[in-house]
Formats: sequence, C-alpha cells, structure tokens
Amino acid sequence: MMEVHYVHFEEIDSTNTWAKTHFDELNPQMLTCITAGRQTAGHGRYGRAWASKKGNLHLTLAFSLPLNSPLLPHLAQILTFSLWQCLEKEGLSPQIKWPNDLLIDGKKLSGVLVEAFPHEQATGLALGIGVNVNAPIEIEQETTSLFETTGKRWHLDELRDRIIERFQANFQLLQEEGFPPFKAAMERCLAYKGEKISCHLGEKTVEGILEGLSQEGALIVQSEDGTTHIFSSGEITHLRLGQ
Ligand code: BTN
Repeated sequence: MMEVHYVHFEEIDSTNTWAKTHFDELNPQMLTCITAGRQTAGHGRYGRAWASKKGNLHLTLAFSLPLNSPLLPHLAQILTFSLWQCLEKEGLSPQIKWPNDLLIDGKKLSGVLVEAFPHEQATGLALGIGVNVNAPIEIEQETTSLFETTGKRWHLDELRDRIIERFQANFQLLQEEGFPPFKAAMERCLAYKGEKISCHLGEKTVEGILEGLSQEGALIVQSEDGTTHIFSSGEITHLRLGQ
C-alpha cells in the first residue's frame, strides 16, 4: 500500500485540474489525495460540467504508472467498484452503469473522470470521483444522493478513507491478477444487464441487449441481427420498451 498524502481545499476550480497543474510538486512515492468542499469548475466525461456543491465528495487521486501500463484502462472501473463495495457494506445496493457511474434506483450517484498525461517517462494520472453525498439534489434531475437514499448525513472524511482503502486493495489485486477477479463481481451489479441499450463511441452507435462484461471489462452488446459488439469505452443509454 502506498502512503497517502492529503491535500484539502474549501473551494477550488477542480481537484483534477489541481492535480494536473501541481503534478511536478507531488511526491512520486506517495498517493496524493486531493479533496475540495466545493468546485467552481468541476468537470466530467465528454467535457460536461459536474455540479460540485458543498456537502458532496470531490476527490482526486494523483499518482504515476509506467508508460503503457496494462492497468491504465481499468483504473476508473476499479475506483467505481471501490465505492460500490463501501456502499454495499452500508447495506445499499447501487448498480454500476458501465463503465464508471454508480446508480441508485436508476439515478446517478457518482461518476469518475480519469485524466492521463505524460510525466517524466511515465504516465501521470488524475483519477477523480464525484459522489453526491449530503447536498440537496435538484428536482427534475436524474441524480440522487446518499442523503436522499438513506435519510442520514454522511461523514465525508470517513467515506474518503474507506474509498481509498478499498482502492488500494483493489489496485494491488489488479496488479497481481489483472481484471479477471473483478469481472464476476462487477457483472452482478451491472445496470441494464439483459436489457435493451444503445452504446455510443464517437460516430459509432449500436443498439442491442447488454450481455455483460468481457474478461477485460469491456462491454458486450448483442444487436438484433445477432452480431456481438465489444466496446472498450463509450457511453450507454437505457432504452425502455417500445424505444
Ligand atoms: C462523470 O460522471 O462524467 C465524471 C464526473 C467526475 C467528477 C469528479 S469531482 C472530482 C474530480 N474533479 C473534477 O473536476 N471532476 C472529478
């Protein structure tokens, strides 16, 4: 396990941006955990904004991996799974919306954004997770929070520590055995399994049944003509009956 160095801001533009711009100053022997009470320019995948209110968890893990590390494509998924494990232990049963969102009652609870960049003959990483915890959620949004789900306020530092503990253990397992040990566990909590979805990646959109995950954590979709499509990244939309 790596020793953790904590950096906290009451308010910042984005913990991922801070990690990227201060990467040179970080100790490469340590796992740096950057958190912020609020973010004024929190961002998500595909350049979307991430509403980052006080009461929620905004956390970025900064560390390096060797160039072309085979672990890289799995980091976001194992961070998502780490949060899933923490919540499952609390009696909740979130689902993973592939590749790295958590849903409760079909509504988004958390998302992960991984940003990788070259740094001194290695790959620098800003692995960010946003979790809706205590802040009130806006009506009409397809989001939920831990407060909304459980009716209690959650301790942010405790949640942070548990996520990091799980992440470190999962990271070690990933290093030793690769993705296969995660496949079955993640498939069990995969949202929309056996249901109709569409999956988009760049120009490509495929409609079909979500079959499950490959040994490498890629998404398997079977279209109506029987063709199997494998997505190693992308975004899914749940298609309800009749769509
Ligand atoms: C997504 O669902 O698209 C990913 C959202 C990631 C949000 C987190 S909050 C902490 C970190 N800082 C950011 O600006 N983004 C990530």
